[in-house]
Amino acid sequence: MDDSGTKSSSDGGHEERQPVHRPVLLRETVAILELREGLVVVDGTVGAGGHARAIVDAIAPTGVLVGLDRDSEILAAARAALVGTDGDRAEARVSLHHLPFSCMREALAAAGQPRCDRVLLDLGVSSMQLDRAERGFSFRADGPLDMRMDSAAPTSAADWLARTGEQDLADTIYRLGEERHSRRIARAIVEARRRKPIRRTAQLAQIVLDAMPAAARHGRIHPATRTFQAIRMVVNDELGELERGLSAALECLRPGGRLAVISFHSLEDRVVKHFLRAHCDVVTKKPVEASAAEVHDNPRARSAKLRCGIRREDAA
Ligand SMILES: C[S@@+](CC[C@H](N)C(=O)[O-])C[C@H]1O[C@@H](n2cnc3c(N)ncnc32)[C@H](O)[C@@H]1O
Repeated sequence: MDDSGTKSSSDGGHEERQPVHRPVLLRETVAILELREGLVVVDGTVGAGGHARAIVDAIAPTGVLVGLDRDSEILAAARAALVGTDGDRAEARVSLHHLPFSCMREALAAAGQPRCDRVLLDLGVSSMQLDRAERGFSFRADGPLDMRMDSAAPTSAADWLARTGEQDLADTIYRLGEERHSRRIARAIVEARRRKPIRRTAQLAQIVLDAMPAAARHGRIHPATRTFQAIRMVVNDELGELERGLSAALECLRPGGRLAVISFHSLEDRVVKHFLRAHCDVVTKKPVEASAAEVHDNPRARSAKLRCGIRREDAA
């Protein structure tokens, strides 16, 4: 791996650079899950397999890791990272599924496990998705305005932008993006799409930039950051998935089992906090956050919040 966090690989003389995802709060997550040999663990957001690799090492050789991701491309990377990396070492059993984490019950059943001991959800998108222009998550590189984590899902960001009314656009950008200029941005989107369909990430980024008051164009983050986040969250129904995923985790965990969630958005963190209070003995009275050193190495860790709870005997 080089300094830019990308991995170079040679393919018949053709140099290909693949973005690599760095797991956030890795040491803290492994510690809070109290992993040990033989546990059955669900990683609902297996991604590139960073957390999963550490989990597999901790539960080997008799444990079982059930990994889910709704992005089939990413799941292929996870498979490469998790399965058969060390022929000499006894590995835990790994069972990977192209499913949203709300379906973890089905994934566990397919792996022959009625219940699990631990669940991890590391929410949001992976750097591997963000950094690939063709997936349409990024305003930094031009690509089709897609943003679907599951490429088989019916509605892309371009579809959603084409058919959503101005009021709904403004409300979504305000609520999920926490963007105070949401009304101006929504109006600009509606005016722009009357002239020409909005189908590229660079096109949307420019519309947002032009809609911002001059003083808001030069902040710490790119002016389109919040709008892109809101559209990504609605296209992938991320809050709905989180609520369904937490309920599924409660059903799947044995009493005494641990649920850990890493979130990057205040609305998600609030949902997790209230859910844990209602159904679990809370391990993290305050969320665990990344150290200054981790944020320095990996700016994505800046907004990460890790919460953990122990499923109560009487939880329903
Ligand atoms: C932050 S990354 C996880 C990174 C992973 N922990 C690692 O260390 O490599 C989030 C991943 O979760 C997936 N994802 C997001 N929401 C999901 C959901 N509801 N169900 C399944 N996978 C989801 C994304 O496709 C992405 O690969």
